Amino acid sequence: MKKIVVTGGAGFIGSMLVRKLLERDAGEIHVIDNLSSGKESNLAEVASQIKLHVSDIRNYEEIAPLLAGAQTVYHLAAIPSVPRSIFEPVPSHQVNVDGCFNVFRAAHAGRVGRVIYAASSSAYGDTPVLPKTESMAPNPKSPYAVQKLMGEYYASVFYACFGLETVSLRFFNVYGPRQDPNSPYSGVLSIFNRCLLDRKPPTIFGDGEQTRDFTYVEDVAELCIKAASAGRSVCGRVFNAGNGNRYSLNQVWELLQEIEGVRIPAQYGPPREGDVRDSQADTKLAVEELGHAPRFSLEEGLRLTLAWYRQSVLEAPTRV
Ligand code: UD1
Repeated sequence: MKKIVVTGGAGFIGSMLVRKLLERDAGEIHVIDNLSSGKESNLAEVASQIKLHVSDIRNYEEIAPLLAGAQTVYHLAAIPSVPRSIFEPVPSHQVNVDGCFNVFRAAHAGRVGRVIYAASSSAYGDTPVLPKTESMAPNPKSPYAVQKLMGEYYASVFYACFGLETVSLRFFNVYGPRQDPNSPYSGVLSIFNRCLLDRKPPTIFGDGEQTRDFTYVEDVAELCIKAASAGRSVCGRVFNAGNGNRYSLNQVWELLQEIEGVRIPAQYGPPREGDVRDSQADTKLAVEELGHAPRFSLEEGLRLTLAWYRQSVLEAPTRV
């Protein structure tokens, strides 16, 4: 049976990817996760169908045998936060750069068929042109953006120099079920959802007119799988993994209130350091070369996400 590895597979995006792989009966699924932000509970109902290795990508000796012989490695493990990379740059660098290098190195040594790398839209920074196309020069504004960009360069170089097949997908503000709202570094939509259910105002950093290409997690997981089977012409290259739209934070909070039928004016705080102003993916390349076909509008995605948070609030003894 084919071996498939998902690093960060207990995280919110990784655990959706694992479910999508299982739906396709894609092979024997191995998850590598140190459970720092990932959770075993994210894999609860599929636990018996996968192998979870609680292991850290910073430890080459430990992860190398786990990757060896895999047909596909989806490398999603990371410390995924712009502000955290500013307040605590060391762990973020060690995981996102050194750990990432370990994954490529181990994949090459273990003759892995292909590595799909979770890159980030943050690589674009504040380049003035929208939407962002892959041919634009990167302009990282935070350590996180630099680290994720470094991973792309390694992905490309491991293909060029060592023949390891790699594809980098620049994720654009992914949201959806299982995104943890409980950290100060949580993605904004997870925080908005929790505030809505708690009937509390969210704090918007800045004027709320910054825009993001919010992308539903299922669309991203599907694209990862498509990238794994695309022809060799995609290897060593970078593709936007976005929805192709952009909404301001004010618009999104408005929409969430409409969906829920409540009025809770947001509070506003100072702008966040390292923040990008506007972000929107040009999806043409991913559509044409990887078969990207995002299915979820923001409203649909938000409805599904909100329903999931509501359910987990009802089921959990304490707040999600
Ligand atoms: C960035 C990347 C994204 C990556 C993510 C990983 C860009 C454009 N996007 O997301 O691809 O996956 O890092 O962490 O670089 N905000 C509030 N209130 C809050 C929390 C956040 O107003 O309580 C604001 C932030 O200041 C920001 C926006 O919401 O303007 C989005 O923040 P966040 O969800 O943290 O993601 P990015 O930093 O945009």
